Amino acid sequence: MIKVDISNVWGQLSLPDLLAVEQEVAQAHRTLTEGTGAGNDFLGWLDLPVEKETEEMKRIQAAANQIRANSDVFVVVGIGGSYLGPRAAIELLQGCNHNIGKGKGNPQIYFAGNTLSTRAWNELQRLLEGKDFSLAVISKSGTTTEPAIAFRALKWMLERKYGTAGAAKRIYAITDPAKGALRQMATEEGWETFVIPPAAGGRYSVLTAVGLLPMAVAGIDIRQVMKGAYEAKVEYNRLRSFENPVWLYAGVRNLLYRNGKKTEIMASWEPGYKMMGGWWQQLFGESEGKDGKGIFPVSVEFTADLHSLGQMIQQGERNIFETMIRFDAPEQVAVVGSDAKNLDGLNYLAGKQLDFVDEQAYLGTLAAHVDGGVPVITMDMGALNDEKMGEMFYFFELCCGVSAYMLGVNPFNQPGVEFYKKNMFQLLGKPGY
Ligand code: PA5
Repeated sequence: MIKVDISNVWGQLSLPDLLAVEQEVAQAHRTLTEGTGAGNDFLGWLDLPVEKETEEMKRIQAAANQIRANSDVFVVVGIGGSYLGPRAAIELLQGCNHNIGKGKGNPQIYFAGNTLSTRAWNELQRLLEGKDFSLAVISKSGTTTEPAIAFRALKWMLERKYGTAGAAKRIYAITDPAKGALRQMATEEGWETFVIPPAAGGRYSVLTAVGLLPMAVAGIDIRQVMKGAYEAKVEYNRLRSFENPVWLYAGVRNLLYRNGKKTEIMASWEPGYKMMGGWWQQLFGESEGKDGKGIFPVSVEFTADLHSLGQMIQQGERNIFETMIRFDAPEQVAVVGSDAKNLDGLNYLAGKQLDFVDEQAYLGTLAAHVDGGVPVITMDMGALNDEKMGEMFYFFELCCGVSAYMLGVNPFNQPGVEFYKKNMFQLLGKPGY
């Protein structure tokens, strides 16, 4: 179980405050699981994790095996909730440089359709030159502009390379089971499809084919991911007190917000966590930021960002709190070497494990930030593996639903996202705008 440690928030809130909010958390959790709150037609994600491998999971694994066998590169096209989860998963477990040394048998994985940058597009084209590739196009609505543009071009490239019939065997569409342009195209062209359940919104879809197909192509054991998520579903919905880390996190962050802490900084100490931070940022930002309310979620990577945002966190406006993410030490250790000249003065660390140095940096930072008036929630995740990652996805989704209901907003809509689109469509001359 994920451990949420709140011993470093006591300077900012008291035990009576926390106890007073327990019934509110309980009510928010009930509202979510009983489906009586706003947006209750989007609760399908609550029951996505299952104990046994489903037929859909078997098909996902079979498709992944095929892609691994016939592709040097796998391109995943999507944006927002149809992009961040799979990228977060792969980078968390395999690092930001996961593509190095990969090819047929264990393909490189790139993401497209999450930008309108011509430079990024040209780079991808260069990358694909002379390579065998397959692609997954992910869009629940099937009409989102960024992925639609990228997909049109990539489909054209596939068809030039393999012919229409050959290309059709390399395109995997992940979309609504019945509605939308992508569903219609897939049916007409005979592409293999996977379903985003209508009752699971984009940012809550990582435990569907949206996340699972790219994970399986990357060689991640999706049965283990689902096992972790399933155990999280059982455990985090069973415990009905502050023993439940979901309750503790949702309760404390709302109390801090009410005490003027309007920004939450999620700090991890793993570069591979960066996209996971991005996934969390979207999950909480899009779910809570509405009706003039919401904790602003910011994700940082330490120690790198201690040299950019560290100053602001230590001495800037005191309207922030931090959530620090920690994992167990890695199995493979690295040790600081000794140097005869010691010109850099580092011999005092010779023989020490890098992870020990990292731990002292963490403890030093924690003490400094708490001294500086920043309440810090610590999440001890345990070992970093496939199963843990499944647990984390479910844990954060559940925390988000409970927390948003405490805040008094609908966690499952995103009406604000439409505003830029309307302006853009008008400027582009899209019919009807
Ligand atoms: O969380 C969400 O619902 C959004 O971020 C969507 O995932 C994003 O806008 C992409 O939408 P679609 O999957 O319909 O292309």
